[in-house]
Parts: sequence; structure tokens; C-alpha cells
Amino acid sequence: MENKKRETFSSGLAVFFATLGSAVGLGNIWRFPYITGMNGGGGFLFIYILCILFVGIPIMISEFYIGRKTRANAVGAFRKLNKENFKFIGLMGVLSSFLIMFFYSGVAGWVYSYVFKSLIGKFNGVTPEQANEIFTSTISNYGMAYLWQVIVMVVVSTILIMGVKNGIEKVTKTLMPLLFILIIIMDIRALTLTDSFEGVKFLFKVDFSKVTQASILIALGLAFFKLSIGMGTMITYGSYFTEDNDMPQTAFKVAFSDLLVSLLAGLAIFPAVFSFKMEPAAGPGLLFMTIPLVFSKMPLGRVLLTLFFLLTSFAATTAMISLVEVPVAYLSEEMKIDRKKAVLLTAVIILVFGFLATASIAGGNAIAEIKAFGKNFFDLFDFVSSNILLPLGGLFITIFIGYFIDRDDIVNELSNGGKISNQAILTAFLILIRYISPLLVVIIFLNSLGVFK
Ligand code: PFF
Repeated sequence: MENKKRETFSSGLAVFFATLGSAVGLGNIWRFPYITGMNGGGGFLFIYILCILFVGIPIMISEFYIGRKTRANAVGAFRKLNKENFKFIGLMGVLSSFLIMFFYSGVAGWVYSYVFKSLIGKFNGVTPEQANEIFTSTISNYGMAYLWQVIVMVVVSTILIMGVKNGIEKVTKTLMPLLFILIIIMDIRALTLTDSFEGVKFLFKVDFSKVTQASILIALGLAFFKLSIGMGTMITYGSYFTEDNDMPQTAFKVAFSDLLVSLLAGLAIFPAVFSFKMEPAAGPGLLFMTIPLVFSKMPLGRVLLTLFFLLTSFAATTAMISLVEVPVAYLSEEMKIDRKKAVLLTAVIILVFGFLATASIAGGNAIAEIKAFGKNFFDLFDFVSSNILLPLGGLFITIFIGYFIDRDDIVNELSNGGKISNQAILTAFLILIRYISPLLVVIIFLNSLGVFK
């Protein structure tokens, strides 16, 4: 009965784009470049790719398995597998999705505001100093920043209320390909700037002397955040997958495409950084300070810049849809709250705590003075979710799949009842998920506790 009422995506292509829509977001365009910039470039990138292969993809496949097998939300899935004791993994996921949304919706608000700023021509002929100033004033004027955050939540809630097929599926299928095309246009522009090749070298020259032990662990954390794993998002999306979907293949395709988008974003940002003699380790403002410069002095620059931020706002929106879907599916299925009410309740909670994040990063107010473990609300929400809850959730998932689920059942589900012959892949998956991935995740987690510092 329960199964019949549930929606699913309508095709394999829809599954792919929706899942990619979750993975691709501010993580690729905002976070990947600045974190890579702060951790030395190529060597970091190399390690990040290893993390995707050895931790990211196996956990993603595991989450798909749990979701599609049970056709339930991140908490209900464990109940349906008769593993009530593991329901806490799903509950942790619900908590993570809130914590991430508290700051992610704020950064999405900056992006939305940049669409508007580009449109009205605020960046025409802008200098590096002016670009810096515009970014600083965008975040420090927190009343305005919050207004944009509210707009973001209105958009996200509206799409979610429309449901899985009409909302999530339609939006992601149109927007993902468009984003791709626009980033490529941006790359062409960035790569033809003077000295742009320095940026390419920075991104691709593998230099392990710059890779510290801490940055290896940061790479692992980024892989979690990027692939939307360790918090039940991929369990929830997996629960909407079609019966005939080749889930290991979907995981590979999504991870590969997601990496490609990150690299293309890096190839737009780093050439600009070097061409304009900026600092690759500038931190969270990197995207907002470089991209307006890339377009500032070219024909059609204003239009392209507006389009770029528009597409980035779309990418952020589809990622947020998947984040918010975790509590929404949980509240509507486990707590039996009507879907629309669940969306509204979730949005209100996000906006209450999201205000704390936005005001705290603005500085110069009482909220910004409140610190826990030396961190303001923005950094705290980010730190607790990315560095504690996601690795911990990922670790529990590897242990759960590796040690508490029958091997034959996994093989059966991941080969669609023997309809696809992917024996070698499944064998590799089973070894990774039992031994390699948990070990690596333990390392990330210990790092987030500061054990290696
Ligand atoms: N993967 C998204 C990004 O890189 O922007 C962020 C994200 C979405 C993280 C969904 C976690 C999640 F469940």
C-alpha cells in the first residue's frame, strides 16, 4: 500500500539529472575552487579524486541500495529493513540537512543577489578592488542578505510543494544541461585572458609538497559534501529511482559529471585569479570576486555574467531541493504530516536558524559576537555538518552495508535481480565498502576532531 502511493522519477534520464542536480551546486562553483585554492591546487585535486573513487562512489551506491530497496525516507528505510537500531543514521541525516541548509541558503542568497547586481550593470568595468568591496558589502549588509535568503526559501519550497515528478524532475532536467553549456562559454573567456595558463597549471600541476596531512582530510570531507552523501539524501533520492536503474552505473556517471563541472568551474576561476593577480587562497569570496572580472571587459559581458549567476543560482536551488527533501520525506512519511505542511515547517525552521548564520558572517552585530568553540554560527553549522555529521553518517552507512546486510541481497538488488551482469564491479564494491571506505572515513572523522593537529 505504502509503495503504491509513492512517486518515482519517470525514467533513467530523470534519475540521472535529479541525482546530478543534488550533487552539483554551490559545492562545485563556490566551495571546490576556494578550498582547492587554499590547499595548494593540483596535488589536492589528485587526492580529492581518489577520495571520490574509494569513499564517495561506494557510499553513494550504498545509499541508493537502501533507498530503492525500501522505497522509504532516510529514517523509514531502516525500519523497513527491520533494522530499527540503525534509524539514528537517518535522524542524523535529517539534522545534517538542516544544519547545511542554515548556511547554504544564505550563500545561495548571495548568488541570487549577484544575478540582480549583474543585471543592473553593477559590475561593468569593475576593478579587482571594487569587486572585493561589492562582495564585502553584500555579506555585511545582513538585512538585505537575509531578504535574499527568504526569497531563496520561497523558490525552493514552491518547487518542493509541486512534488517529485512535476517539481524536482522537471526543474533538474532542464537546468543541468544549460549550466554545463554556460560554464564552457565562461571557460573559453577565462582561458583567453592574459597569463591564464598560470591558472591551468595551478589546478593541474600535481605537487605533493604542497599537500599537508590536514588537506588530505579536507579533500575527503569535500567529497562527502560534494556528492551529497553521508546524510540520507541519496537514500531519499534512491527511493524514487526506477526499478531498472543500474545504480552502480548511475553513481559513476553522477560522480564523474560532478567532477567535470567542478573542474570546468576551476578552469574559469583560476585563470582569472592569475590573470588579475589575485590570491588563489582568498577563501569563500573567491567566486564572487573573480567571476565578475572575467566578464567585466568583454562584449556581452553583462548578459553572460547575469546568465552565469542565474545558472549558479539554479544549481544551488536543485541541490537545496535535495537537502530539504530529506526532512520533508521524513516528516510526511514517518510523522504523517501533509507534504505541503512539511515543506512549510522545514522552510520556517531553516529561516529562523538561517538568520543566525547570515547575521553572524556579516560581522559588527551582537549575533556575530556569539561564539562556540571559537566559531560563529555560520562556521559552526558548516563545521558540525561537513566535518562531523557527514563523515560519521558515512561511516555508519559503510558499517551497516558492509556488516549488517546480507551480501546476496546487495548483489541481487544492485544487479536488478541478475538482469545486469556487473559481477566485477559488485565484488570491488563489496571489498571497498567493508574494508577500505570505513577506514578512510575514520581518518576524516579523527581529523575533524582535531586528533591529527
Ligand atoms: N552537493 C551539494 C553541492 O556540492 O553544492 C551540496 C549538498 C546537497 C550537500 C545535498 C549535501 C546534500 F545532501
